[in-house]
Amino acid sequence: MRILTGVQPSGHLHWGNYFGAMKPIIDRQDQGEVFVFVAQYHALTTVHDAEKLRTATRDVALDFLACGLDPAKACLFRQGDVPEVHELAWLLSTVTPMGLLERCHSYKDKLARGIPASHGLFAYPVLMAADILLYQSDCVPVGRDQKQHVEVTRDIAAKFNQTFGAEVFRLPEPLIAEKVAVIPGLDGQKMSKSYNNTIGLFDDPKEVKAKIMRIATDSTPLEAPKDPDKCRVFALYRLFADEAETEEMRQNYLRGGYGYGHAKKALFEIYQRKMAPFRERRAYLEAHPEEVEAILRAGAARAHEAARATLAAARKAVGLD
Ligand code: ADP
Ligand code: TRP
Repeated sequence: MRILTGVQPSGHLHWGNYFGAMKPIIDRQDQGEVFVFVAQYHALTTVHDAEKLRTATRDVALDFLACGLDPAKACLFRQGDVPEVHELAWLLSTVTPMGLLERCHSYKDKLARGIPASHGLFAYPVLMAADILLYQSDCVPVGRDQKQHVEVTRDIAAKFNQTFGAEVFRLPEPLIAEKVAVIPGLDGQKMSKSYNNTIGLFDDPKEVKAKIMRIATDSTPLEAPKDPDKCRVFALYRLFADEAETEEMRQNYLRGGYGYGHAKKALFEIYQRKMAPFRERRAYLEAHPEEVEAILRAGAARAHEAARATLAAARKAVGLD
């Protein structure tokens, strides 16, 4: 089983990215063949600053490796190192109905947020389909906001196979872990860099603590029982906690005599505890950029190998052989 995901290098990774996209894939590296790439071409639809793109690309690679992606098992590469994806994207675009793209929420949301409508932004799902199909991915772990793009990918793949009468592409399934489907941000909306409500994965602990302390809670008095399922602090705590820890926290809320301040402190502590080994590994990798570069190059070579057969089959199907 091949599991693939892309992460845009368009900013600082936050808890939503980690629990929604990174952790589910890192947890699966023992179960299947995992491919992770830095989606630089997708980021270019919104980032037009070369230095920013370079730095953010490096950061995504460091973050994945620091959080436990093991290059001996998983394939980590830069999208820009396998530019063949564009040839496939073009072939796919010729069978992609305009209406399919016009219905994409993500495009409409981006326009609503003031991002100028460009051809790249509109064609974004076709390039994403090419990413997924080029590597014959079975399963694509993404946050709920990206589910529609995986469905669009299935539609495009089926249309291509049908149009050219060849089974070139495997149809991928989105994988959305329900517990983490939408990680709430500091204000209760989806955590997203566009809403300015994120907590960074590797931010300065002091800053993280200050952000946690600012999370709005209701005015239930300390002594009174509280509903954990209505509390943002609990929603974030359970991401880091195992089952026993989650249950214990749930009981604290239900019992009463446990204030939101206590819960916030517990959230900060569990974050610090779980992140300590990641921080250490990230510092090591930052000091050894040549090791990171070697991992990315080896990843690109492996990705190339996997891409070659699919592209040849697609070219043959359309008559470009
Ligand atoms: P942002 O919303 O901050 O711009 P991206 O769109 O770059 O984040 O998301 C990168 C990946 O992280 C995607 O797979 C996305 O679904 C996932 N993701 C982002 N925010 C969340 C969230 N709040 N909850 C769950 N998954 C998320
Ligand atoms: N669109 C994804 C996002 O913004 C990134 C991405 C690009 C991706 N290509 C992909 C995710 C292929 C999964 C599979 O998060």
